[in-house]
Amino acid sequence: VCWRQIHRCMSQGSSRGGSPGKGGPKRKVAVLGAAGGIGQPLGLLMKLSPLVTDLALFDIAGTPGVACDLSHVNTQAKVEGFAGDGELGKALTGCDLVIIPAGVPRKPGMTRDDLFKINAGIVKNLCKAIAEHCPKALVNIISNPVNSTVPIAAEVFKQAGTYDKAKLFGVTTLDVVRARTFYAAKKGIPVEGVDLPVVGGHAGITILPLFSQATPKMDMTEKEIDTLTKRTQDGGTEVVQAKAGKGSATLSMAYAGALFAEACLKGLNGQKNVIECSYVESTITDIPFFSSKVRLGPKGIAEVLGLGKLTAYEKKALDDMAKELKASIRNGIEFVKK
Ligand code: NAI
Repeated sequence: VCWRQIHRCMSQGSSRGGSPGKGGPKRKVAVLGAAGGIGQPLGLLMKLSPLVTDLALFDIAGTPGVACDLSHVNTQAKVEGFAGDGELGKALTGCDLVIIPAGVPRKPGMTRDDLFKINAGIVKNLCKAIAEHCPKALVNIISNPVNSTVPIAAEVFKQAGTYDKAKLFGVTTLDVVRARTFYAAKKGIPVEGVDLPVVGGHAGITILPLFSQATPKMDMTEKEIDTLTKRTQDGGTEVVQAKAGKGSATLSMAYAGALFAEACLKGLNGQKNVIECSYVESTITDIPFFSSKVRLGPKGIAEVLGLGKLTAYEKKALDDMAKELKASIRNGIEFVKK
């Protein structure tokens, strides 16, 4: 597979959502944290997307260079770099979609919660600026711990009077991407044809792949399911350890972030049946923020889909995660209220 095929594939998937080159809508996307390990390849993938007409790259420094570099790529999106808080408003004005991979990543031995101290404040400030400059934009939060940063964003938007639960998303697509890869390898089938939901949250035991709902279907023993579940839960740590102090997943995260961003744009453009898993405000369990399949539409989330039929193994995993996930949500909300 060469990059041309990947690009063509993205274009074909996207054209159903209205290719701007063929009279589709103008869409401005901002990446906040755009000079970072995720931000740079994510910027490239957004530049390759035919659904994006304007791409704003914001970071505390380094973005003019990244933007100049990307602007030479032969696609339509107009790229601009913005550096420092003084330019944040300009980056955000007119945005349809804001993607946030700003913040510090994990080092070996760290949990996602260890990042809270630094990243909570970063997400809070960026969301304040979103409330001021593009309150109607969809917001995709990548910065960890996602289980807390999404409730933080919700609380900031509530305080600003701009909160719309249909427009706020925690990006858990990388968990889905990993589960699909591990499942396809186990079954010996091409990963492109695999679909399987991952529900719950985005940290350790709160990540729950529903292998019983995977298609194509495969008979698996409980032990095999347990092994694949744990591998999906530890997928991030696998990368952190392999990078040995040089950060966490960046390239696969950029791929996953681009998949999810494109799904959001397709929904905005009126494409039907765009369904992805995401961590959103939810009533499908008694956990107030929860990742499940959501149907995307012209106003963001059109519908949060239910969990479907769960096995005893999955029900137990759901019970086991509830306490941790609720505590992470509470931490986020209290951080903003304090
Ligand atoms: P990185 O350190 O390479 O890049 C982060 C970038 O954010 C840097 O360029 C930094 O200058 C920028 N930044 C810091 N404060 C900022 C601010 N106030 N405004 C704008 N930009 C700011 O880190 P990397 O590897 O790109 O990871 C970023 C985040 O994504 C981390 O929190 C990491 O844990 C998270 N992550 C989330 C995943 C998910 O599945 N949701 C998967 C992998 C990482």
